[in-house]
Amino acid sequence: MEYSGNGSSDVDSWKEVILVYKSALKEIGTKLEILNDEFQHVHQYNPIEHIKSRIKTSESIVKKLKRHGYESTIDNMIKYVNDIAGIRIICSFTTDIYRIAEMLERQTDMNIISVKDYIKKPKASGYKSYHMIVSIPIYLSEKRVDAKVEIQIRTVAMDFWASLEHKINYKFDVNVPEHIKEELYECAKMVSALDAKMLSLNEEVKALSLV
Ligand code: GTP
Ligand code: MG
Repeated sequence: MEYSGNGSSDVDSWKEVILVYKSALKEIGTKLEILNDEFQHVHQYNPIEHIKSRIKTSESIVKKLKRHGYESTIDNMIKYVNDIAGIRIICSFTTDIYRIAEMLERQTDMNIISVKDYIKKPKASGYKSYHMIVSIPIYLSEKRVDAKVEIQIRTVAMDFWASLEHKINYKFDVNVPEHIKEELYECAKMVSALDAKMLSLNEEVKALSLV
């Protein structure tokens, strides 16, 4: 998105930018709904359990810009903050994650800016998820702008882990005691084992064509 100051106030431009990001969330939300419905139609199965989306608060946008050493301007936030619009897709099985990612990657009206696969390569904390930064065109009354959206795709179990870990980090203001970090890492391994077990169980039952 290119922001050009056209004499309107900062507050007006801020509101316009946020409106664009909200529209981007709606566009991607609709795309996902269509994919999920069609998948249900073809395979009698929903790969998506649920979807959460959010717009980053102005406070955390400013905090992030500061952390990266950028001045708090609208141009900088558009350029450097990739997760102003965020959408999280929760699935049952790890195979669903790649299925959804591939379906999104095939959409030609959406540009994939970057992909980080923290499932194949989990973070040191144990964090697992599939991340994509995409850019999507938004057609306003007089111009087209492109908005970036961060998409996180994870299983219910990965999401459970990530929410607790996030809460713990927040509580300790990042100075998490070593033993808690270790326990969390153990839990992450259990999450992976659970995901693998549930997947193989589901595959086995599917092969019997009971579900
Ligand atoms: P930021 O972490 O947002 O500055 O971006 P980044 O460029 O480092 O990207 P990354 O893909 O590592 O993280 C983006 C988002 O993923 C974060 O804002 C969190 O929502 C989530 N995330 C990444 N790592 C972790 C983690 O270790 N634990 C939890 N709970 N969430 C994480
Ligand atoms: Mg990070």
